[in-house]
Amino acid sequence: ATQAQANIGVVGMAVMGSNLARNLASREGNTVAIFNRSYEKTQTVLDEHPEAEFLPASSYEEFAASLSKPRTAIIMVQAGRGTDAVIDALTEVFEPGDIIVDGGNALFTDTIRREKAVRETGINFVGAGISGGEEGALLGPSIMPGGSAEAWETLGPILKSIAAVVDGEPCVTHVGTDGAGHFVKMIHNGIEYADMQLIGEAYDLIRRGTGKTPAEISEIFTEWNKGELESYLIEITAEVLRQVDAKTGKPLVDVILDQAGSKGTGVWTVQTALDLGIPVSGIAEAVFARSVSSKPAQRAAAAALPGPTANPVEDVDGFIEGVRQALYASKVIAYSQGFDAIVAGAEQYGWDIKKGEIAKIWRGGCIIRARFLNRITEAYAENPGLVSLVTAPFFTDVVATTQEAWRNVVADAAHAGIPAPVFASSLAYYDSLRADRLPAALTQGQRDFFGAHTYKRVDMDGTFHTLWSGDR
Ligand code: ATR
Repeated sequence: ATQAQANIGVVGMAVMGSNLARNLASREGNTVAIFNRSYEKTQTVLDEHPEAEFLPASSYEEFAASLSKPRTAIIMVQAGRGTDAVIDALTEVFEPGDIIVDGGNALFTDTIRREKAVRETGINFVGAGISGGEEGALLGPSIMPGGSAEAWETLGPILKSIAAVVDGEPCVTHVGTDGAGHFVKMIHNGIEYADMQLIGEAYDLIRRGTGKTPAEISEIFTEWNKGELESYLIEITAEVLRQVDAKTGKPLVDVILDQAGSKGTGVWTVQTALDLGIPVSGIAEAVFARSVSSKPAQRAAAAALPGPTANPVEDVDGFIEGVRQALYASKVIAYSQGFDAIVAGAEQYGWDIKKGEIAKIWRGGCIIRARFLNRITEAYAENPGLVSLVTAPFFTDVVATTQEAWRNVVADAAHAGIPAPVFASSLAYYDSLRADRLPAALTQGQRDFFGAHTYKRVDMDGTFHTLWSGDR
């Protein structure tokens, strides 16, 4: 039998798993056991990375034997059936007190179910969201682990050793029990959808509104990335727009088919938010925008429908600055809505999630890493009971200074016939929150009229029903 020597193991030697294993192996004090269902991938990783000094295993038994106790293994396999198969196999060879971590993109309700089932065996199960793609896995991701406090004691130091570091702090925290980590990772991805769509809308408005070329817009994003919008997504947007297609010599963005794909985490976010009753309209519109883009038959059929005669933008620089401000304001709303979903999820599932800590661990490693996340951490530090992020003093200032431009951009987009669904829905949400009275009163009247659903009054307690003239 193999001598137990590894303090951590990784199951799944595809891209994410092998990169995470290499990251672990590169940190002082770690010896990493590796396993893959088919041995070829393990062999390839061994051959390509002798420096990692991996301990390879060719069976689950051998893998378990190569790990020191409590055994700790991170699963990085295909989400769904693959994950369940590996968990089943590991629970056969692991012992009470050992730790199984699922680092894949699991749906948080699956994680809750798995944690419950694995816990019965005395083994700890931790669902950990890992963001940052291939590069993050290799160099330092943002990690969102759930699971028990007991598991975190062993796991914490290991995860801290491989996470991205910002201002000396590793981008990992114990998010909450069972599925909390995967829940927060899901919301992260939802916010990522909104953030990406907002940038897309800004690009489209500038391109179609002013006729600037992708290369010129790349410069604009590079400029924006020096200010309050500084973020990974703005940075890579500038790079994507700068890219020229080798085959045609055209901007690459013009030869990429304009139908956006997805792996479904945005849909999960919106489905979950609908169940929780939380309006994540920015995220939802971003998901829908991808759906619209991927309906070529409908788009072709609608291509001849009438649109406005666009007036050219007169003040080009002013317009671009307006778009920048609208992007910033809409981004604040997207995050505000995302954190509302986190608060509601925490309440529904009994998690003690520290919002400020979440913003903190999103500052590095992950796709939505951005300068302004510091402001979110500060807002929750100042007021942990903050009911809406946008009402924090800092963000109130942001919308106060940007709202005029935001409104103009949404109006300009409508006038020019350029779709800006997240800009527009974020503004509508903002104005809904602000409104003294909402037409929900009328909705209640209608519901009472046709269904005797009753209503409440502003001036007294109780439940009321009116004998409408339409009643028979
Ligand atoms: P990537 O990181 O490239 O996105 P993925 O598609 O999420 O990878 O997951 C692929 C990994 O899941 C592979 O390591 C695969 O093992 P094989 O190389 O043997 O195919 C692993 N995987 C998928 N289903 C599995 C199962 N039922 N049991 C064990 N491992 C499985």
